[in-house]
Amino acid sequence: MKAVTIHSLSQANPIVDVPNPEVTTGSVLIKVHATGVNHVDLAWATGKRKPADTVFGLEAAGEVIESKSNQVQVGQRVAALLDHGGYAGLVAVPAERIIPLPDEVSYTQGASIPESFLTAYQALFWIGQLKEHQTVLIHAGASAVGTAAIQLAKVLKHATVITTASTAKTKVCKQFGADYTIDYKTQDFEAEVDRITEHQGVDLILDFIGKNYFQSNLNALHFDGRIVLIGDLSGSIVDQFNLRYIMVKRASITGTMLSPRSAEYKARLTQAFVADTKQLFADGTLKPSVSATFDLADALAAQQFMADQKNVGKIVIKV
Ligand SMILES: NC(=O)c1ccc[n+]([C@@H]2O[C@H](COP(=O)([O-])OP(=O)(O)OC[C@H]3O[C@@H](n4cnc5c(N)ncnc54)[C@H](OP(=O)(O)O)[C@@H]3O)[C@@H](O)[C@H]2O)c1
Repeated sequence: MKAVTIHSLSQANPIVDVPNPEVTTGSVLIKVHATGVNHVDLAWATGKRKPADTVFGLEAAGEVIESKSNQVQVGQRVAALLDHGGYAGLVAVPAERIIPLPDEVSYTQGASIPESFLTAYQALFWIGQLKEHQTVLIHAGASAVGTAAIQLAKVLKHATVITTASTAKTKVCKQFGADYTIDYKTQDFEAEVDRITEHQGVDLILDFIGKNYFQSNLNALHFDGRIVLIGDLSGSIVDQFNLRYIMVKRASITGTMLSPRSAEYKARLTQAFVADTKQLFADGTLKPSVSATFDLADALAAQQFMADQKNVGKIVIKV
């Protein structure tokens, strides 16, 4: 089958022939129509984390062409959470990691769902323990994970959602349902959260930024609040930090990385998400956010588009 690997990415023609994936008991074979680009792909591209023949792609959407599971039928339109292998003509995946796609959702939109929505879902509800009507601060609100988190927090928990984003992207957060948006380029988010929450702080923070926001996040937290670290876009080494704030706020600081999680965890997470969001993509309540599409031959350009921060939502590669 045709695929783009870590080794082939930067070649003039990055599409190479690799062996077809093996379909084991309980798995299905998908004819890939589209795959999402993730920040992990940029890290893999350096070749330091994975072997050079690894096929990129943590998520894909397409048609099931072979099934060794009675849960999924041949011909079904699906998206799937992968360990790797989405930048390819075919991919095999355990049936428990399948998200059925309604006819209303295109393959391009479908490919943008697994990583961003499952990351947001687990961070908000499994790790962040967001409860009905609580207040959540979502940094990088216009990012792919951010737009998914805004929607899930509003729709499933009727939460009050505050987001940060750069100037041009604050309106995107509003479009996806945020109650308040803070332009972090011109406003101090800590002061704004204090004003919006009438000095109470927020119950939960989803943080993608890391270093630059660490102290301010604690200051913006309500007592017994939780911070879930999902990314470290500004860096990961915090030079000066007062541990006392963790005690004063009785804060829980935790973090997660989805891609190295076990197969069993990914299966449970996907199944819980599918159960909670049935019909919500079909009726338009939940909206995938696609920023740009590229052809498979332009996979390098797709990754560069993300590195240059040109995307507002997901970058999708059509296969
Ligand atoms: N832990 C996990 O399991 C997991 C899973 C998926 C993704 N992630 C991580 O989640 C983050 C978002 O991923 P994504 O695919 O949703 O990203 P994305 O759609 O590419 O959006 C990233 C956005 O973050 C903002 N940003 C970047 N650098 C910043 C900085 N220094 N300070 C403030 N804002 C900054 C930018 O928006 P503005 O212009 O508004 O600043 C940028 O558009 C990444 O760090 C990714 O690695 C983690």
